[in-house]
Amino acid sequence: MTAAAQTRPDTEVVFDPATYVDGVPFAALARLRRAAPVAWVAEIPVLGWPEGRGFWLVLRHADVESVLARPQLFSSALGATQIRDPATPQALGYVRAMMLNMDPPEHARLRRMLSRSFTPRAVAELEDRIRGHTRAIGDRVFAGPRGECDFARDVAADLPLLTLADVLGVPEADRWLLFDWSNRVIGYQDPDYASSAEFDPAQGTPMAREAVALRPSPGPDGAMPDPRTREGMPDLYAYAHLLAEQKRRRPGYDVMSILLTQADEGGGRVSVAEFENMFWLFAVAGNETLRNGLPGACIALIEHQDAQHALRADPALMPGAVEEMLRWWTPVMTFRRTAAADCEIGGQQIRAGDKVVVSFTSANRDESVFADPDRFDLGRLPNPHLVFGYGPHFCLGSYLARTQMSALFSDVLARTSSLAYAGRPSYLRSNFQRGVKRLPVAWTAS
Ligand code: HEM
Repeated sequence: MTAAAQTRPDTEVVFDPATYVDGVPFAALARLRRAAPVAWVAEIPVLGWPEGRGFWLVLRHADVESVLARPQLFSSALGATQIRDPATPQALGYVRAMMLNMDPPEHARLRRMLSRSFTPRAVAELEDRIRGHTRAIGDRVFAGPRGECDFARDVAADLPLLTLADVLGVPEADRWLLFDWSNRVIGYQDPDYASSAEFDPAQGTPMAREAVALRPSPGPDGAMPDPRTREGMPDLYAYAHLLAEQKRRRPGYDVMSILLTQADEGGGRVSVAEFENMFWLFAVAGNETLRNGLPGACIALIEHQDAQHALRADPALMPGAVEEMLRWWTPVMTFRRTAAADCEIGGQQIRAGDKVVVSFTSANRDESVFADPDRFDLGRLPNPHLVFGYGPHFCLGSYLARTQMSALFSDVLARTSSLAYAGRPSYLRSNFQRGVKRLPVAWTAS
């Protein structure tokens, strides 16, 4: 560690997205957690962003739950849910059209309609398809007696896309559009991703070609327009619009088709704008999170060879292993709320309007809840991690995420007898997603 790094306050290290390129600063988080339940974090200028007004970082498990369980006091709508404030009131208005950034009762209406759309039949179909996708990925990547792959790119990127395409009723040929869109959103912290263009229009549907024609170009500085504005994502909105029209004409069995037929308590339907925003939310929330969670889980197994052997020997350990892989990695590190009134968290006075950021990364290593929290323990029980949040916004895709992780590793471990590093992983520059850009893995067939 350089002298400059040593003298930086822990809060600055934890805030700076550049820190995460070298890994999560667990020691700094543990020191902060021990010192006080809530830390004040100054938002120094980083990545060319201007200085922000600072926020309270909630570090302990019980306090994270308590914040997330009280949406009236800790609002998702007042300032939305990202640490950085939206650039303009219009931009705030735009993200507030999304369920993630709504408070009760608006939130409950959409959430109910969406939850009902995950019918037992739709979920059973999705489970079947997930198993089919993992088999196809395995057949493609793990052919021959041994080999090397980039687990992040070759294995983990495709499964969430294929599953999302099934949920959204997007034709498989168009699924890399979802990849590019979520990269663009994540790319506002890491330039490697900002102008991602993996989708090949020649391979897609006419609907996709029509949407891609509206794709914005990078500016003279190479930066794309702010993806957290409607103008930044015209191609996504055009696609969502065309897809909704198609589904209203010819509904399928996918969740979004079912959603379009739902009525709320007053007999109202999902509006076009609501559908488009739901599509945006799923395209990002259901993709990036798991695409980082799967390589994170692989890293856990590579760094804990005993656990890898134990899981191969006894597949019945898989459900517990999935929970521990999720806790150990914690793909989504933070979420933000805004205090709606003066209040107190863990003895700390908070003023109305203050930003309150919960740290899932810290809560999931809270030593008062998890014995020996840095240990990767397949048998950890109970394992009340907060990977998927808590309270009314608890992740709607948690079941699908767990199903994908379990199906993928059941398949990969059955096909291989060893997984090890074939090079150094490369991590995302972000204080929001614990992301893996490359994960070189050497494998031997079973
Ligand atoms: C390992 C993978 C995943 C992680 C770590 C994760 C994490 C989270 C977290 C922490 C929240 C709560 C946000 C808040 O409190 O403001 C959330 C909400 C959400 N997630 Fe996930 N998620 C994952 C996978 C998925 C998948 C696969 C989907 C969809 C197929 C999905 C869809 C959503 C949606 C729609 C919400 C918003 C719920 C609401 O506002 O009521 N997520 N997720």
